[in-house]
Amino acid sequence: MTIASIMLAAGHGTRMKSTLPKVLHPILGKPLVLHALSAVENVVDIPPVVVIGHGAEDVKAAIQAGVKQDVQFAIQEKQLGTGHAVMCAQSLLQGKSEKVIITFADMPLLTQASIEHIIQLQQESQSVMVITTVMSEEPRGFGRVIRDSDGSVQAIVEEVDCTPEQLLVREKNTSAYCVDAKWLWQSLEKLQPSAKGEYYITDLVAMAVAEGLRVSAYVLEDRSEGLGINDRVDLADTERAMRMRVNRDWMRKGVTFIDPWTTTVHLEVELAQDVVLQPNTMLMGKTKIAKNSVIGPNTTLIDTLVGEDCHIQYSVAESAQVGNHVTIGPFARLRKGAVLQDHVHIGNFGEVKDSVLGEGTKMGHFSYIGNAEIGKDVNIGAGTITCNYDGKTKHLTEIGDSAFIGSDTMLVAPLKIGKNATTGAGSVVTRDVPDNTIVYGTPAKPKERKD
Ligand code: UD1
Ligand code: CA
Repeated sequence: MTIASIMLAAGHGTRMKSTLPKVLHPILGKPLVLHALSAVENVVDIPPVVVIGHGAEDVKAAIQAGVKQDVQFAIQEKQLGTGHAVMCAQSLLQGKSEKVIITFADMPLLTQASIEHIIQLQQESQSVMVITTVMSEEPRGFGRVIRDSDGSVQAIVEEVDCTPEQLLVREKNTSAYCVDAKWLWQSLEKLQPSAKGEYYITDLVAMAVAEGLRVSAYVLEDRSEGLGINDRVDLADTERAMRMRVNRDWMRKGVTFIDPWTTTVHLEVELAQDVVLQPNTMLMGKTKIAKNSVIGPNTTLIDTLVGEDCHIQYSVAESAQVGNHVTIGPFARLRKGAVLQDHVHIGNFGEVKDSVLGEGTKMGHFSYIGNAEIGKDVNIGAGTITCNYDGKTKHLTEIGDSAFIGSDTMLVAPLKIGKNATTGAGSVVTRDVPDNTIVYGTPAKPKERKD
């Protein structure tokens, strides 16, 4: 049994009121079209076909950047409706499969399991077409599923074409179909345009019934799978549903969420057992947290690796690496290339960029450390600043193990502070300091020397 798939992603998305094509709006950091593709990409035998049109180049580029496997593209020059969009894929797929899965790029919560169910149902019930539906208290905007008195599916009627009686129907079409390929390709050309001049894929249902063929419906149990995006209210509702789906998965795997409704975990994030996420925490990109670490409240981590038993609160980190038993915040910022080894402590209002802080080093208050290599057990006093930039280039500051940097020290790079060296409070250090030496003043001089 060969299975092909078509995903419709050519529409304008007028109701989004956006210059960005609708299918590129992200939820959980990933464009809608990629969420929708992930439900079909593993069940097909030939590369999925995506129908693109509005913003075609951008949509194509986003898909190619976001998926590993091959994807085929069909162009729909004019958006003449969902039935017409499927016709645009005909030359790529006709004669190549027994079944065709059709899904919409604006239905990102539909799962692979549901796609597998409709394939199975189509096979077992010998239907030419299986549709997916959801029972909804709020079917507004969706096509309604019309059934016979015996429950058999008769038609899908678009909301604009519904009679007042049909508008009361609570079963809505969620636009995932498994169709017998041969019947699909011969039936598409018989579709008639609607009053608005659009060809509706939904009209295939009544057409099959009129031909005496069977159409079955798969009613999705999880209603969130039926959430579709037409405007930004839908976008927010869908993001919330997706966020809860991801968070519940992590809770079942042993992660504590104090307030899952305000905690966002992107799809590629990895969390170990007994991680605790406090409210208003966002974990983005390829962030990874090892066991027993507590993140938040109010913390954003992007592409950041965090070791075991850490506590990071009210802080922001991007492309940083944090060892084990590290405490950060409140109000710290780690920028790209910040590497904190085990038992480091960063307190309030510290910023670290392109620097390594060795094991046990402490930086409690109001410091900027950029382009620095700092050894073990160094004490960085309040207000210490690496003056790393001379207006043209960034320069390196090196600090040896167990050095004591006094409060408000300016370290004018390039600079090397020796092991166990001390700088006095308020010193401006412009020259290298040997091991075990105390310097102070502006510019800083060794204490032993008499000028
Ligand atoms: C469609 C269904 C409706 C269903 C609803 C939600 C039809 C006629 N109606 O309505 O029964 O309840 O989805 O699942 O199918 N697209 C194209 N080319 C086009 C038009 C649309 O590629 O010419 C794509 C869009 O990019 C989008 C999808 O098809 O991904 C759906 O289009 P949209 O206009 O949102 O359809 P609905 O009005 O939501
Ligand atoms: Ca839609």
